[in-house]
Amino acid sequence: MAERTVRTKNIGLRGIAVADTKISYIDGERGVLIYRGYRIEDLAHNSTFPETAFLLLYENLPTPEQLAGFEKELRAASHLPSFIVDSMKEWPKNAHPMDALQAAVPLLAMADPELFDESRQANLRKAVRLMARVPAVVAAWHRVRQGLDVLPPDESLSHAANFLWQTFGRVPDSEAARVMDVCLILHADHTFNASTFACREVASTRAHMYAGVAAGVGALSGELHGGANARVMEMLQKIVQDGVTDIRGWVRDRLERKERIMGMGHAVYKTMDPRAKILKRLAFDLGEKAGQRIWPDLTQAIEEAAMAELSARGKTNIQPNVDFYSASVYHILGFPGDLMTCIFAASRIAGWCAHIIEEKYGDAQGKPALYRPQAEYVGDYCGKLDCEYVPPEKRRMASTTG
Ligand code: COA
Repeated sequence: MAERTVRTKNIGLRGIAVADTKISYIDGERGVLIYRGYRIEDLAHNSTFPETAFLLLYENLPTPEQLAGFEKELRAASHLPSFIVDSMKEWPKNAHPMDALQAAVPLLAMADPELFDESRQANLRKAVRLMARVPAVVAAWHRVRQGLDVLPPDESLSHAANFLWQTFGRVPDSEAARVMDVCLILHADHTFNASTFACREVASTRAHMYAGVAAGVGALSGELHGGANARVMEMLQKIVQDGVTDIRGWVRDRLERKERIMGMGHAVYKTMDPRAKILKRLAFDLGEKAGQRIWPDLTQAIEEAAMAELSARGKTNIQPNVDFYSASVYHILGFPGDLMTCIFAASRIAGWCAHIIEEKYGDAQGKPALYRPQAEYVGDYCGKLDCEYVPPEKRRMASTTG
């Protein structure tokens, strides 16, 4: 095929607004993140994941009665249908937890009695079921793959504490439960990130909520998106395993090889991600108490070295994102690396559902419309737009004679 000049540079829709939203707001220059009018720092300090999820779904912080009712609904929905657990037992034990989660979402759809009820109220109820069951799937798969029994939810625990209990079979102390809760709040929404856009794109076809969520899980799994936290942990463990002491030199070598420092840089933030600042504090607090300062210390050393090396190359905008310090936090909480992106999903499910509902009902943007971008066709196969069809027999003769 002849060389073609690229006509459309793929900038990944950077800076292009494709819809209005009332769910969250980012100021990438100042490092601000707001969920429905509330700063992330305030929510992380004062709220809980169920309260924040209610805010994302219903547009207001709940009254105490509304919150109690919402938590009750979450608890009631958190039992996994037995056919899903039975099915998991047949899956290859080495399946990646994100693949297991993505495979489980359509099974959750099959178990939803209101799957094709497209009323707003039914979609809100589906959102609650998804928020309750996505963490339950993550915990269940982690146990099934180890040959352990799947644990029923403990209704006396908070949403975050119950997630830790169902995953590890130990009731967490109050600090671990609170750290988990804050992590869930921090990851719950982030405007039109790749996975949320995938959810909304699918919802725009009027497919059901679970179809959108399955697409979101797939998009989140990539290392440039939610998969980055697992890659950060691999990076830290490799440095320790290799006995690297010159972190600046390690960073320099990596940049010279054109490799990225995982957990740094962001498509929107041009300064430190506000969530990373909170996670950095949590990582140091947890690390101190658990006698595992090695992880936040090493992460900070990489941050300082990378900022210096990148600045020397004129790149001052590449700073820690949400995944950088969350890797240490999750590791200290006991999560294996391959489960880290699933924690992201167990939180982002709140934002995904809120966005799917906004997309379906056009809350912020008038009448919903099917996403249908276009591409510049640059195919050049026979010197003109349409080629003459050649039957197989003649094709073979042409290739032997030619
Ligand atoms: N380490 C080293 N260099 C980086 C970098 C990183 N983490 N992130 C971006 N860069 C460099 C790129 O190599 C590129 O350099 P070049 O212009 O010399 O080729 C330049 O910065 C722009 O990169 P680009 O991918 O176009 O910018 P972006 O703003 O779209 O990048 C990310 C956003 C998230 C894709 C990117 O920062 C990245 O890959 N980070 C690591 C993965 C990660 O942590 N993802 C989680 C995001 S929450």
